[in-house]
Amino acid sequence: MKPVRKAVFPVAGLGTRILPATKAMPKEMLPVVDKPLIQYAVEEAREAGIEQMIFVTGRGKGALEDHFDISYELEATMTARGKSLDPLAGTRFPAGAVVSVRQQAPLGLGHAVWCAREIVGDEPFAVLLPDDLMVGKPGCLAQMVEAYGRVGGNIVCAQEVPAERTASYGIITPGARDGRLTEVMGLVEKPKPEEAPSNLGVVGRYILQPEIMPILGQIGKGAGGEIQLTDGMAALIGEQPFHGVTFDGERHDCGDARGFVLANLALGLARDDLAPAIRAFLAETGGG
Ligand code: G1P
Repeated sequence: MKPVRKAVFPVAGLGTRILPATKAMPKEMLPVVDKPLIQYAVEEAREAGIEQMIFVTGRGKGALEDHFDISYELEATMTARGKSLDPLAGTRFPAGAVVSVRQQAPLGLGHAVWCAREIVGDEPFAVLLPDDLMVGKPGCLAQMVEAYGRVGGNIVCAQEVPAERTASYGIITPGARDGRLTEVMGLVEKPKPEEAPSNLGVVGRYILQPEIMPILGQIGKGAGGEIQLTDGMAALIGEQPFHGVTFDGERHDCGDARGFVLANLALGLARDDLAPAIRAFLAETGGG
C-alpha cells in the first residue's frame, strides 16, 4: 500500500459567506486566535505525515503562498532586534514542499481537485478543506491515515449532521460499522432532508486513490451546477474499498461568521494565556 504523501487544499473559493472580510483577503487567511485557517489545516497535514502541500488557488490568493514562504525583511528585522523566530515555525517549509496550481474557473470542488492531477500523479492523496477546522489529538487526518493503514482504499471523514441540514453536505449511505469505521455504500451531494439516505455527512477531509482523477475529468455538472467531488467518489464505490471515519474531536465550520466566532472562543478558551480574560469577559457580560 502506497503511503499518503501529498495533500490538496482547494483554496480558490471567493468566501462570499463571510463578506466583507474576504473582499480583498483570502478567507483561508482569516485568523482563529492568532493563526490563519490555512495554517491549521497545513499543520494537521504535516502531523499526518504529508510531505507536499498542493494549493489549488485562484486570482487574489497570493497571500497564501507568501504565508508559507520566507519573509526575508521580517526575519532579518526580528533577528536584528533580538526577537525569537519561533512564532514563524509552522510557516517554514523546504523548497518545493508547498506548491500551487490555479483553478481558472469556479467549476466546483471536484474540478478544483482535478486541477491538481499532474502534481498528485499516480499515488493516493489527501484533500483538506480549510473551512473545516478540526481540533483533536491526534489530528483528524492522522486518525484517517491510521485507518487507511488498516483498510486502504478511499476514506472520508464522517460526522452526524442535524437531519434538517443534509442539504449542506455530502451524505453517506452507511453499511457495516466497526467502531469509528463505517463502510460507505453510497454518496449523494446535498440531498434534501426527505431524500437523504442518512444523516451521516462528509466533512472536509478525504484520502483518495488517484483513479478518481480521470473520473473527475469526465463527469458532468452535479448539484448546484458544479463538478462535485462527491459524484466522482460515488463512482469509485464498489470498485475500491470506501470507508468513513468518525473523527474523535471537534469540528468548527469556519465558512460563516457564526462558526468563526465560535471557533475563536473555543480555541481561545483552550489557551492558558487567554482563557482567564475570556471567562472574565463572558461572566461580566452575562455569558459565562
Ligand atoms: C463541500 C462538499 C460536501 C461536504 C462539505 C464539507 O461542500 O461538496 O460534500 O460535505 O464540503 O464541509 P461546501 O461546504 O463546499 O458547499
